[in-house]
Amino acid sequence: MRKNIVAGNWKMNKTLQEGLALATELNAALEGATLKCDVVIGTPFIHLAAVAAAVNTKVVGVAAQNCADKASGAYTGEVSAAMLKSTGAEYVILGHSERREYYGETSAILNSKVELALANGLTPIYCCGEALDVRNANEQNAYVQKQLEETVFNLSADDFAKIVIAYEPIWAIGTGVTASTEQAQEMLAFIRTLIAEKFGKDMAENTSILYGGSCNAKNAPELFAQPDIDGGLIGGASLKVEDFKAIIDAF
Ligand code: PGA
Repeated sequence: MRKNIVAGNWKMNKTLQEGLALATELNAALEGATLKCDVVIGTPFIHLAAVAAAVNTKVVGVAAQNCADKASGAYTGEVSAAMLKSTGAEYVILGHSERREYYGETSAILNSKVELALANGLTPIYCCGEALDVRNANEQNAYVQKQLEETVFNLSADDFAKIVIAYEPIWAIGTGVTASTEQAQEMLAFIRTLIAEKFGKDMAENTSILYGGSCNAKNAPELFAQPDIDGGLIGGASLKVEDFKAIIDAF
């Protein structure tokens, strides 16, 4: 079912104590409030169990930022989807451009991760988005289409219905340069058209698609007012309750 979602991506920030304090403060700020969107925080692995126990996960959902592409076994340093689920996390951010770029995550790897996440009852927040040279060449639509076709468009309709898509143009991530409202709306509408062509109009209407990339309290109201923008994936501005809450309140 299509929902409005504001999801934080803490990336590699906050010690366990700092993260717990942030999550607890956010939970206190949101519990009892009337919210027009689901709220999720994506924490480092080691925070997940403590954060999930400290918040009301009906108010603040908990996400991991990655998971292993294998189910279990001799993969030193990896964390499986089943382990994530056992912490109380309900979501996992997959395919973030930083994972693709710095850790060599390919479509083949991401296919395994998405499948394992779904098989373990996690909701993947699947990221796509182009770099600046692709945008400058005006090839962003074909680029994002390929990213989707190579991964989540391989899913069955039943599985695809469980995922959330996040479009994050790489040139807008952490740069302070937000995609214009028109650029964001145009791409999200395009993604919805692709979903309709692949899985039908109902599926397209029911898929939550988020925008990410320097989203903040100032630009969120206009972005979230667009017909195809169902919320945001928020990096820097999710690290302070005041900033993150202002984005949540933008709905
Ligand atoms: P940003 O990051 O909001 O700091 O640009 C977004 C993201 O990478 O998810």
